[in-house]
Amino acid sequence: MKSLLLSRFLLLLPWGLIVILLLDTDSSRAPPVIPARPPQQQQQATPRRSALPPIYAITPTYSRPVQKAELTRLANTFRQVARLHWILVEDAARRSELVSRFVARAGLPCTHLHVPTPRRYKRPGLPRATEQRNAGLAWLRQRHQHLPPPQPGVLFFADDDNTYSLELFEEMRTTRTVSVWPVGLVGGRRYERPIVENGKVVGWYTGWRGDRPFAIDMAGFAVSLQVILSNPKAVFKRRGSQPGMQESDFLKQITTVEELEPKANNCTKVLVWHTRTEKVNLGNEPKYHLDTVKIEV
Ligand code: UGA
Ligand code: MN
Repeated sequence: MKSLLLSRFLLLLPWGLIVILLLDTDSSRAPPVIPARPPQQQQQATPRRSALPPIYAITPTYSRPVQKAELTRLANTFRQVARLHWILVEDAARRSELVSRFVARAGLPCTHLHVPTPRRYKRPGLPRATEQRNAGLAWLRQRHQHLPPPQPGVLFFADDDNTYSLELFEEMRTTRTVSVWPVGLVGGRRYERPIVENGKVVGWYTGWRGDRPFAIDMAGFAVSLQVILSNPKAVFKRRGSQPGMQESDFLKQITTVEELEPKANNCTKVLVWHTRTEKVNLGNEPKYHLDTVKIEV
């Protein structure tokens, strides 16, 4: 038995040595040389990035258990988009500590505003975030109104609970007036989309109120900064605005259906989803603070 094992061992030994030798020569090989970028290419990279029109994302947000999680998800996306300026507007009488801390560490250009929704408008069935979006618009107009045209830039309304693909930003970046695209998981359907014929929007595929002049969700369009500046009175209205009509009422003030620029391969690709976060179960949360530490969530 012993001699059998020994003969097996002696038989395998040379092979083992060969394998060890091969592995060793492999790791001792010089690391692959990564050619340094030619200096002229390095110089070009910065100006090219700054030549991109900035994207301004207006995000209304309000205090609730999932707020920081939503903002974290959004920042993780926005941080990867070149020249994105985030306008975060808190639905609150003052800036909260949570959002202020968050903004300071977000790692992207942020403007932190706040305006409370009047109590009478905080009711189910009424449009949300009207005052906050208008505050974002006012900030943008004030910042640019004294600068000479043309003012490059694109504005879009980014609710804090939606899901945005990076490709969406590439699409909206080239907006000349108002651009549109499909939105997933909205209107009681898997998606809604503008119907496009010969490069023009001719109607709307939607499960909800197809009679709206612009049957589109807030996440489904972007507006050039120039259009925002040349229509200084265009705002979201409370008076006379029915639920779900905010987008249409706003777009009516600045454009026509014929003018819309279809994006996302003639509106055939979903690049943004109207996701909604489940209300968290805090049923086991103690009435009084029991833990030894205080933790921001
Ligand atoms: C739909 C549309 O997609 C929204 O664009 C529209 O504002 C909203 O309806 C409406 O009812 O007006 P939905 O998912 O039902 O969206 O609304 P939320 O996501 O709850 O709110 C939209 C945005 O407003 C979010 O960014 C949210 O943080 C903010 N919000 C909501 C406030 O700032 N204050 C509130 O009291 C509620
Ligand atoms: Mn939402």
